[in-house]
This record gives sequence, C-alpha cells and structure tokens, in this order.
Amino acid sequence: MGRAKVFVTRKLFDEAISLIEEYADVEVYESEEEPAPYDLILDKVRDIDGLLCLLTDKIDARIIEAGECLKVISNYAVGYDNIDVEAATKRGIYVTNTPGVLTETTADLAWAILMAIARRVVEADKYVRAGKWVHAWGPKMMLGSDVHGKTLGIVGLGRIGSAVARRAKGFNMRVIYYDVFRREDLERELGLEYKPLEELLKEADYVTLHVPLTKETYHLIGEKELDLMKPTAYLINTSRGAVIDQKALYKALKERRIAGAALDVFEKEPIDPDDPLLELDNVVLTPHIGSASVETRKKMAMIAAENLVSVLRGVEPPNLVNPEVRRIRPLKPRE
Ligand code: GLV
Ligand code: GLV
Repeated sequence: MGRAKVFVTRKLFDEAISLIEEYADVEVYESEEEPAPYDLILDKVRDIDGLLCLLTDKIDARIIEAGECLKVISNYAVGYDNIDVEAATKRGIYVTNTPGVLTETTADLAWAILMAIARRVVEADKYVRAGKWVHAWGPKMMLGSDVHGKTLGIVGLGRIGSAVARRAKGFNMRVIYYDVFRREDLERELGLEYKPLEELLKEADYVTLHVPLTKETYHLIGEKELDLMKPTAYLINTSRGAVIDQKALYKALKERRIAGAALDVFEKEPIDPDDPLLELDNVVLTPHIGSASVETRKKMAMIAAENLVSVLRGVEPPNLVNPEVRRIRPLKPRE
C-alpha cells in the first residue's frame, strides 16, 4: 500500500498539517480566507483517502460519491450540518468533528454578545466614536437592560448550553432550559428548571440557542415562537443561523415585538451587504466567531488532524459522528 493522500480545504496551523504529513501526502488549498471552490473539492476528492474540511465547504452526496477511495471526512467544527452524513455512512466513510475543545470558548462568546446587546456596548462604542458624547453623564443616557437576577432560557442543553448555564450562576440568574433530552443530573447540579419550549419562550428574559442544525431544528424559532417571547426579551444565537427564521426575526425586531437580538450565525454567511438586519439598532452582529480564540482554533486543528490520521491508520478516531459506519467498514490497523 502506498502513502495515503489527503486534501485540506484551507490553510490551517502548520502543526496540524505536520501531524498529517507523518502519515500521508497532504495537499492544502492555499488560502486562509477564501473557501476552496466546490468544483475543486469535487475534483480533488476523486483520488484521496482523507478530506479535512471546514463548515463553509458543502460536502454533499455528489462529492461523497466521487470519493472512490475516501475513508474519512474530518470537519474542522463541532457542527456538521455541512456534510451529508447519511451518504457518507452508506459508503463506509468515517465522519468526525471537533467537540469539547470549543465548548467553553463558544459559551464565552454567547455571554459576550448577550451582554453586548443587553447593555448596548456596540451602540455605545459607536456613539463615543461618532462624537455624540457631548454631555458627561445623563440619567437616561444609553439605558439597557439588567442581566443579573434575570431569567435565562437555554434552548439545547448539550456541552455548550451547559457551559452557558454554569456562567449564569455568577450572575445570580434563574436558569430554565428546553431540550429533547431531560438532564436531571444537570438540573440538580446547576439548579436548572426544565420547561417545554413554549413556556421557556414566555418566561425568559434572554433566550440563547445551543442546538445543532438538523431537520428538526430548522426554523425552530419562527414567527409563532417570537410572538411568545416577552417584548422586553432578547434572543441570542451562536449555534447555526437556520435555527431561526431570519425574516421573521427581522420583522419582530423592526416592530419591537422583542427587545433585541445578538447573532453570531446567519442563514446565509457571509450576510448580504443589503440584508435589512444591518439597518436595525437593536441587534448585535458578529461574523461566526464562536470558537475564534487562538488557543481553541489551534486545538481544533490538532483534533481534526488526529481524527483524520486515526482513521487512515485504521484506529478509532477520538470524535466519530457516525458510529454506524463501523459495521459498514470496520477499521483494521495499518502498518
Ligand atoms: C462552529 O460553528 C462549529 O460548529 O465549530
Ligand atoms: C456542542 O458541542 C454541544 O453539544 O453543545
């Protein structure tokens, strides 16, 4: 058997590439910013054993079927809605992701943008820079909403959702959650209350989303759900854009049926420059930077590399998304 071949769809940290090079010949798409074109991936996949891709690469059934000797698709992300996992499983291809390492970093960002919208941090910064700060202090200048002591509603109590819940304790908040799985252990440990989604939406002052994007969570928050929220409540999203019906959200924000939103993810990324959301002042927008800390992005790259190399060496990868694949193509150690 010759050396395995790997294609990496973006320039990553050198350490991660070196790790893969110990076991395989690696080709890297030489761009740090711009995604590899779809047709290029379709072409490259024809003779590679491993693909390391990003959440911006759409790895659909067509690409997967073209990958005749493809054994592993390693996603540089925790979310893997960009990959047709079912098609991969059918063909015996291992799909891996990078959970765990980005949990705390993403929870930090959820809090950063929650606080930013509540206390109008971005607006206040723009105000100062625009020279609008002409009176030293005003009893009604830039009034926001308190965070401490309020009710936080967490939708999706996975790793990230529970990391967000832990932080809420420091703000002395009441924390309620909705998930398809009840987590009585966490309810006890963190003092959380389980609520059906409708109840949560009615009661929370801050609703924060931490579900993966699936058929079931697509547009989970639409017009009906937004109408259940209090007019004083805020919506925070650091999960995937399409969990919210963005058009419905725009209307709710524009008509002030909810107080505001803080969004790190969008139905279309990057957001269109003429998207009407950009004109609203009751929204904070960040460019999908949930996991974007130096430390975490490095760890993610190493884990994505380890996952990929494991499968190529015929050993169980640390983070397998589709365990059913083991029956279709059991791993046999090489070397
Ligand atoms: C980022 O959005 C990720 O899924 O890792
Ligand atoms: C992500 O890792 C989650 O489970 O929330």
